[in-house]
Amino acid sequence: MKNKDFADLWSQNLMSNYAVPSITLVKGKGSIVVDADGKKYIDMLGGIATNILGHSHPAVVSAVNRQIKRLSHVSNFYSHPNAIELAQILVRLTGDKQSRVFFAQSGAEVNEAAIKLSRKTGRTRIVAMTGSFHGRTMGSLSLTGQNSKRVAFTPLLKNIKHVAFGDIKKAKRAINSRTAMVIVEPIMGEAGVIVPPLNYLKELREACTNNGALLVIDAVQTGIGRTGQWFGYEYSGIKPDVITVAKGLGAGLPLAAMIAVGKTSQLFEPGDHGSTFGGNPVTTAASIAAIKWIEKNKILIKSKADFKNLSSSINSIPGVFEVRGAGLLIGIALERNIASEVMHALQEKGFLVNAANPNTIRIAPALNIPRKELNQFVKALKEVMSDVH
Ligand SMILES: Cc1ncc(COP(=O)(O)O)c(C=O)c1O
Repeated sequence: MKNKDFADLWSQNLMSNYAVPSITLVKGKGSIVVDADGKKYIDMLGGIATNILGHSHPAVVSAVNRQIKRLSHVSNFYSHPNAIELAQILVRLTGDKQSRVFFAQSGAEVNEAAIKLSRKTGRTRIVAMTGSFHGRTMGSLSLTGQNSKRVAFTPLLKNIKHVAFGDIKKAKRAINSRTAMVIVEPIMGEAGVIVPPLNYLKELREACTNNGALLVIDAVQTGIGRTGQWFGYEYSGIKPDVITVAKGLGAGLPLAAMIAVGKTSQLFEPGDHGSTFGGNPVTTAASIAAIKWIEKNKILIKSKADFKNLSSSINSIPGVFEVRGAGLLIGIALERNIASEVMHALQEKGFLVNAANPNTIRIAPALNIPRKELNQFVKALKEVMSDVH
C-alpha cells in the first residue's frame, strides 16, 4: 500500500480532528524515516520534540524488549522498580531532594494534575499566558491561551486569566493573594518557539513567591534535554513549585510526569489523583534507558553546540528573519509568510519540518542527530529559500 491508499483509509476510518496526513511513515532508524512510497526523509521534527533519541535507538529497544518479556503492567496497587528508579532520576535532575513525581501519559494529563494540585492550596485562580499551549483536555485547554482552539468548547474552567507572554508588568498585575498557580512554558513551542526576556522567569518566580502562588513550569516540549538543559528553565536560576514533562520523557513511548518541588510535593494525599498506565514498567524502562544514554554521551552539551552552529548558518540565509530557541528546539522565522510553502518544498527534498505559524518553521529533531544530517538540512533550506525568493 502507498501513501495515497493510507490517506484514503485514514479518511474512511479516523475522525476528522486532524487534516488527513499525505505521508504515512512505516519505518525509521536514528533520524531517518521512510514512508509508504519508499521515500526517505531526515526527520527534523522528531515527532514534535518527542523522539528524543530518534527511532529504534538500540538502548531504548533493548530496555523495552527486556521489560515487555518480563512484566508488562502492574496497576497502582503494586509498585515496580522502574517507576521508582525513574522517579529517583527525575528528583535528582530537579536538584531538590524533596521533589516527588506523579506519572501519566501525556502533557495534557500532567497539566490537569497541576491544576488539581494547585486546588489543594485552597485557591482556584490561575494565571496563564496568551499564545501558550498546554493541551486539549478541558482543564489543560482552559490553560491554553489560543482562542482558535478554545472557542468551540466553552464554557471552560473559570478563573483563568491570560496575560501577554513575556510581559512581566501584565503578569504582576494579574498575580495576587488569591492566585493558586501561574503556568508558563520556558519557551513557547507551539506558538512558534518564542523565547521570553532573560529575567522573565525570575520575576515571575518573585511575583509568585510574594503572593503565595505556585509557579508551574510546563516543560512538556522543552524538557528532557531539548534546550540543552534538563527542563528548559534552569538558565534562569529559579526553583519552580511544579514541573510538567511529557513528549521526550518516554523516548517515543507515551509517558509524562508532574514533578512537585519542595513543600508542594506534600500537597497530594492518597486518593487525590491517579492514572491506570502512569509509571508503566515498559514506558519507564524506555525513559530510564534514554536518560542514562543522554547523560553518558553528554548530549546536553551537544544540543547547545548544535544550536550555536545551526543558528549562525541559518541566520545568514537570505529570507530568514531570525533564529529563535535553544538547544534543538528551533524556530526559523522567515521574512515573509511562506512557512507552509517552505515546509512542503523541504518535504519534497526529503526533510520533515513543521510550519508552526505562517512565518515560522519549527525544528525539534532527535538530540543525537548527527552533525552531517544537520548540515544536509541547512544546505536544503538554503536551496529552498533561494527557489522561493
Ligand atoms: C508545552 C506543551 N504543553 C502541553 C502539551 C500537550 O501535550 P500532549 O499532546 O501530550 O497532551 C504540549 C503539546 O504539544 C506542549 O507543547
